[in-house]
Amino acid sequence: MKEQTYDRESLVRAAFEAQKHSYSPYSNFEVGAALLTADGRVYSGSNIENASFPAGICAERTALFTAVHEGVRDFTAIAVVGKHKEAGQFDYCAPCGICRQAMTEFCDPETFEILLARSPEDIKVYRLCELLPLWFTSKDMEIR
Ligand code: THU
Repeated sequence: MKEQTYDRESLVRAAFEAQKHSYSPYSNFEVGAALLTADGRVYSGSNIENASFPAGICAERTALFTAVHEGVRDFTAIAVVGKHKEAGQFDYCAPCGICRQAMTEFCDPETFEILLARSPEDIKVYRLCELLPLWFTSKDMEIR
């Protein structure tokens, strides 16, 4: 398996910066994400909620869709951080199922890394295929 070489701590720091922009008055759960492109750029996102709850979006998809909108489709990793705004400390915040599925559209599940962090020094690293086994892609819809 290809070893990823990038600065994980910096990517997590970008996720903490992004978390400050969360608009989450309904859950009060503030999430930030930082998505690293294959050419070294970082797109960040936060969760943006809505009075009509399903209209909200997670931090991971905010970052992913912003990048895709700008024409970027090659990604290396995403860092995610989140906590209730009253909580004193962060715990690992894993992407929801919809975000994992959204990632498979543009990220190679075998190599794309998902960083869950409690601090820039306390990071758990997963590959997307570990968090979404038997992922569904356009290949599954081919007529055989
Ligand atoms: N949320 C994210 O943005 N990312 C995650 O990884 C988990 C959940 C958001 C969605 C919603 O705004 C709030 O956290 C509570 O579910």
